[in-house]
Order: sequence, then structure tokens, then C-alpha cells
Amino acid sequence: MKIVSPSILSADFGNLERDIKMIDRSQAEWVHIDVMDGVFVPNISFGFPVMKPVRKATSKVLDVHLMIVEPEKYVKRFVEAGADYVTFHHEACADPRAAIAEIKAAGAKAGSSIKPATPAEAIFDYLSELDLVLVMSVEPGFGGQSFMPNSLDKVRALRKEIDEKGYNCLIEIDGGISAKNAKEVFDAGCDAVVAGSAVFSAPDPEQAIIDILNA
Ligand code: DX5
Ligand code: ZN
Repeated sequence: MKIVSPSILSADFGNLERDIKMIDRSQAEWVHIDVMDGVFVPNISFGFPVMKPVRKATSKVLDVHLMIVEPEKYVKRFVEAGADYVTFHHEACADPRAAIAEIKAAGAKAGSSIKPATPAEAIFDYLSELDLVLVMSVEPGFGGQSFMPNSLDKVRALRKEIDEKGYNCLIEIDGGISAKNAKEVFDAGCDAVVAGSAVFSAPDPEQAIIDILNA
């Protein structure tokens, strides 16, 4: 499986509908939505009011990445705003099992994300309950950073554990992905890749998505 999830963090917010329509026409199956609270990460992005027009403008899967403290408090509202996947940060969540149950009860798929310093094994004991694992290949907070190659070892460890145990969980990677490194991340076992600047800084964003898929 190969999925591209363009991150609207790098979109033009003055022309958000145009940029979402581009994704809607493209070969990307997901739309990645980065929510930052200025506490879990040193940056603030956007929240519920931005989700609604995005949901209206596309029928693609909305892949919501919560870089916020106490994510369980807000899960239900993100699902109501149209999230298909809700991914919290392992490091931000006191009770991941409760958060997963809440996401599923609200009718969405549940993801957990790990920062570069968090080992893959940290989430093994609740991996069976997840629909998605999001491996950060940059420090969360900003688009346009360089890919950290050691994140690939974590992808391989997760791929092995998921395959050996027969879990139904996708692996996504986020940060510094472009057509230059997409092949190695898919080969390492990723099912989905997030791409922000590689898509929205490209002269032809739809072609940039194709280039990542064909890398
Ligand atoms: C960073 C975000 C990413 C970001 C990726 O904290 O989680 O999704 O938008 O941007 P690029 O693809 O430019 O690294
Ligand atoms: Zn993200």
C-alpha cells in the first residue's frame, strides 16, 4: 500500500479551498492536518474552525495529527469536525488505551505518534489496538525540516512487530519526505507518507504527489 498525505501546514491559507481542491483531484488519498497547541510543540497552527471548510472541500480521508497536550480532551470534537483518523502523541498521553477507546467510540480510527527520541518499542504494548502508527522523522513543530534517516530503523522494527503479530495497523512517516527519499521509506515498510513542503513548494503540486508515489 502506498498513500501520500499532503500536509496542509504548508498550504496557502489565503487560498485554502484551492489547495484542498488540488489534493482532492490528485492521487493523494489522505489529507494531513497538523494541529499544534504551542505547549506540546513550540508552534501554534490551527484547530476546529479550519477543519470544517477542509471537510467540506474534499471527500478524501482526513488524517489529523494532534501535537497537543491532553489530546483525549479534544478527540470527540475533532471527529465531529470530520476527522477520519485521529493521531495523538504517545509522549502527550497519560493513558493511550483510554484515548484509543475514545477515538474509536467517536467513530474514527486511532493513531499514536512517536517523536524522534521515543523508541518504537514504547508503543508495542498497545499496538494491537491501533489503526495507525505515525513515526516522526523530524522534531514535531515545523514543516520544511530535514529528514532524520535513523527513523527508518523504527519503521523496520514496527513493520516486523506488526507483521509477526498479524496486527491491522498502518505505518505512516512524517517530516522531510520528498520524491528523493520516498522509495527508501516505502521499502522500509511505510504504508503512508506525509509531505508538506515537497508538495506545496513544488511548481506542480499534483505532479509532486505522483513523483512521490512513483519514487
Ligand atoms: C511537523 C508536521 C509535519 C509537517 C511536515 O511537525 O507534523 O506534518 O507539516 O512538513 P514537511 O513535509 O515539509 O517536512
Ligand atoms: Zn504531521
